[in-house]
Amino acid sequence: MKILVIGSGGREHALAWKLKGDSRRPEIFCAPGNAGTATVGTNLPLQSDDLPGLLAWAKQHKPDLTVVGPEAPLCAGITDLFQAAGLRVFGPCQAGARLEGSKQFSKEVMAAAGVPTARAATFTDVASAKAYLRKEGAPIVVKADGLAAGKGVTVAMTLAEAEAAVDEALVTRAFGDAGNTVLIEEFLDGEEASILALLDGEHVVLLASSQDHKRVGDGDTGPNTGGMGAYSPAPVVTADLLPFIREEVFGRMLRELRRRGITYQGLLYAGLMLTKAGPKVLEFNCRFGDPETQAVLARWDGDMVPALEACIDGNLGESLVRWRPEPSVCIVVAAGGYPGSYRKGDVITGLAAANAVPGATVFHAGTTQKEGAVVTAGGRVLGVTALGADLGTAIRRAYEATGQIHFAGMQFRKDIAWRALQREKK
Ligand code: AMP
Ligand code: GLY
Repeated sequence: MKILVIGSGGREHALAWKLKGDSRRPEIFCAPGNAGTATVGTNLPLQSDDLPGLLAWAKQHKPDLTVVGPEAPLCAGITDLFQAAGLRVFGPCQAGARLEGSKQFSKEVMAAAGVPTARAATFTDVASAKAYLRKEGAPIVVKADGLAAGKGVTVAMTLAEAEAAVDEALVTRAFGDAGNTVLIEEFLDGEEASILALLDGEHVVLLASSQDHKRVGDGDTGPNTGGMGAYSPAPVVTADLLPFIREEVFGRMLRELRRRGITYQGLLYAGLMLTKAGPKVLEFNCRFGDPETQAVLARWDGDMVPALEACIDGNLGESLVRWRPEPSVCIVVAAGGYPGSYRKGDVITGLAAANAVPGATVFHAGTTQKEGAVVTAGGRVLGVTALGADLGTAIRRAYEATGQIHFAGMQFRKDIAWRALQREKK
């Protein structure tokens, strides 16, 4: 069996690693991959947004399964393109991927489906957007409609911040066309959690819950990032919430999409705010989360290929997904300066020692091989992930492994999973 994984981040290394362990012993190809995926399979010199190049490779080499990591190729229609060529792809069609590609579309589907979410209004014109802001008052949230590489959301605590965010999108056009429309959204208060679910067009299977750490600094301070760490499960997602999330969030979305002629097959990620009034959706992503995937897949028990194939074939069932009881923790090690500008090309040492820590696996994100060494090649460099008998052990192991690693300017948060620990202490 041949599997093609598209993408180059920590999520893709985790996917490639997990797929490689399947009992069918597949041969793994990654496009373009990183120094970590190179230890699992073969990296291809093809970028994840090079749809014609990827299709040409796939037509020639006929992978039995292609797993798409990032949102950009999904929103560009890679699934439709591959399917038209008779190839099997895990990832939603272009129309389904719009749930991530357009926040306005996502809101519209949620509203029609009756999915709980923040109240929102959309604007293309500065004066009406600001009039609405003044009417609503702060705190309030301003979002660029389109894909903005995680930078399109401003949680404004003051009216001035909110107005500046509107100007950034509609006047200075910091997000290009992705900011042609802005959503202005009610501020929701609560604790966040990520729920990833597999969908086959008809059935929903929730994966283990997780929580991301979006701010760069300890105690959730500083600018937003792609994610500085994650852990699974997220104890804030109590068992009694799961049927509600399955039915009222994913089930409703699936049916509303189907009513619109869209069969959603793939992974759907719901970013939830757990408010006093119950879970509400902050966003949908059409793909696995990063770094949530590193934490979640570390706990996946048994083969993953059959579950991904069942999404394509429309025969997904709960029995295809099992979890190890041990919690997992993923510490993202980033380059100095991230999420601002950072250096590339620094030599990374200690990877073998880190991988030798019991329960630990180092997933690569922004790394590449150069003259026999592994060097940094991105903002988020590694996702050091560990399982433990309990949360405290998982955290200790993940930090012990992180302590083995060195590169110039490396930074990481020291408090990953603090909310779960605090909850345990209570
Ligand atoms: P999004 O990309 O829509 O998930 O937004 C990024 C981050 O902004 C989320 O993870 C939340 O921390 C925050 N956020 C988004 N929408 C809201 C909201 N309505 N209320 C409070 N915080 C929000
Ligand atoms: N960790 C957040 C995301 O993948 O969008």
